[in-house]
Formats: sequence, structure tokens, C-alpha cells
Amino acid sequence: NWTTGNVIDEQVQAIREMVGDKRAICGLSGGVDSAVAAALVQKAIGDQLTCVYVDHGLMRKGETEQVEKDFVAATGVQLKVVDAEERFLTALKGVTDPEEKRKIIGREFIRVFEQAQAEIIADEGPAVEFLVQGTLYPDVVESGGGTGTANIKSHHNVGGLPEDLEFKLIEPLRKLFKDEVRMVGQELGLPDEIVHRQPFPGPGLGIRIVGEVTKDRLDLLREADAIAREELTAAGLDRDIWQCPVVLLADVRSVGVQGDGRTYGHPIVLRPVSSEDAMTADWSRLPYDVLARISTRITNEVRDVNRVVLDVTSKPPGTIEWE
Ligand code: XMP
Repeated sequence: NWTTGNVIDEQVQAIREMVGDKRAICGLSGGVDSAVAAALVQKAIGDQLTCVYVDHGLMRKGETEQVEKDFVAATGVQLKVVDAEERFLTALKGVTDPEEKRKIIGREFIRVFEQAQAEIIADEGPAVEFLVQGTLYPDVVESGGGTGTANIKSHHNVGGLPEDLEFKLIEPLRKLFKDEVRMVGQELGLPDEIVHRQPFPGPGLGIRIVGEVTKDRLDLLREADAIAREELTAAGLDRDIWQCPVVLLADVRSVGVQGDGRTYGHPIVLRPVSSEDAMTADWSRLPYDVLARISTRITNEVRDVNRVVLDVTSKPPGTIEWE
């Protein structure tokens, strides 16, 4: 009989037997899968686990703090945070092509992660033999059920590792679906913001700025995104919609009027969608009053933004993200 308590006990037991007195590493992305996988392994082997969180500077408002503070407080996990914002911004300078952005972010991510990993391996202590991955049942099925390597679509492989990886994998969520993972996370006492986080792409806000990614633009988009999320949560809609990308059209300007003055600012796009698996999606029919509040607040509170537009395209033909 399936209960979260049974799943946790079973996995804790299995992980302890598997790891013995060796050490394990886990990359945290801020998402629910890696967080729950890490929390389970932490429960099993405590300080024999070290987590790594690469702060690429492309996260939304508050998300890095959620990992650094709330997740650590909830689990007691040993965490190594690498502040790599500068490095990512430098690598992204002048780049506007979406696939180019993905490639650069993925490449830098792996380099930074590998360096952190090397430092952990060099520490005093037992050999680091294991790598924890938040692979879910649907990932296993999609990739033909193979074991032993990172089974994530290359498109989505920003947190992934190169082919020649020498670690043995610990994948404590391999038999679980997303909703079950959330239940386990809840039972393990993880913060709600992490357990119920909507899907968020590995390249983060880097692919939600149409145009070049700069610190200034990221800050602006973070503000707009935070307002949209706040209002959707206040309206009780955040768990109904699949996700709501908020996109900055950095290379577009339109004329506006605020106070007595003419403005020439950027549009923000709201892209709320409903979906089962992200393969197809429909645009969400959000209540007009919620949309109105988001629009008013963003244009009032976010500098350089004078227009908010709603994306009413399904997938297909539009993808969920704009890039
Ligand atoms: P699209 O835009 O292809 O997105 O309809 C489908 C789902 O995948 C997410 N997405 C990504 N996730 N790395 C990721 O980890 C990426 O490069 C990436 N691109 C899109 C998107 O947020 C949606 O949930």
C-alpha cells in the first residue's frame, strides 16, 4: 500500500545500503525534483551528502534565497553555493539567438558545476562515488527505461552532466509521478514555494528576455515576474495554471503616456497556460480583474515598462516559452 511514509522509509533504507560510508553529490536547481531527491538522500546519509547550487543570476526574485535559506533550514543539508552571475552575464554578452543562449548557459553551468564537484572531491573524507538525480518515472519511460546515466532530454539538460560521468547514480524518485513527488516533499517538510513551484526552464530568465540578456533587464523582468506571481497567488490561481512565463520584449519599444509625459518603454508579455505535460498547451482564460491588477501594478511599479500584453496562442503553434 502506497503512502508517502512508506516510500520515504523504503528509499532511506535503500540509499543507506547503497552508499555505505562513501559520499554523494547533488545539484540543486531550485525545482521540486532535485529538492525532494536531495532531501531524501540527506535523510538517509546526512553529511555524507553535499549539494551544489549554481547561482547563474537568471533566477526569479527570491528563488536563490529559498534554496540557500529555507531549503537548508528545512533539511539541514550541507550546501555549497557558487555565485556565478558575473560569469554567465559575461558569457551571454551580445547574444540574442535563443539556441545560442541555451548552449552558452548549459556549457557554463557544467563548467561551474564540475569545478565545485572537484573541490568537494578534493576535501578530506571518504570517496565521492555517487551522484543524486531527480529523475521521475515519466523521464524513465520517455528515455526507454535505461539506467545508469542522466536520462533527460538534451533540450532540458541544463542541469545535466557530460556523457563520460564516472559516478553511480542515486535516483530515489524513479518510480514516482510529479504529484507523488510533491507529496513526499511535503511530508519531508520542504517549503511550499519549492514543493508547489511551477515548471521553470533551466536557462531561467535568460530565455525570457527577447534580445540581449543584461543585469539591468534581468532586474526589471524579475520585478514584473514577481508581481504577476504575487497576484496569481493572491487570486488562488497559481496551482490551477501550469505555468505563466513573463517575458520582456527588450528590443521592442512603444509609445505611452504617464502623468504629463510621453514614455517610450518596453512591453511585458504574460503567457499563462494550462497543460498536462507541456507537450501541448492552451492559453489560460484568466479572470479580467486579475489581469487588470497585474497590468496596473507592472506599469506603475516597473520602470521602463509602459505596456502589458496577453499571449492568446495555444501550443501548437506557439511554444510555451517565447524563446
Ligand atoms: P516549450 O517552450 O518548448 O516548453 O513549449 C515546454 C516546457 O519546457 C520548458 N522549457 C525548458 N526547460 N530547459 C529547460 O529545462 C530549456 O531550455 C527549456 N525550454 C523550455 C518550458 O518552461 C515548458 O515547461
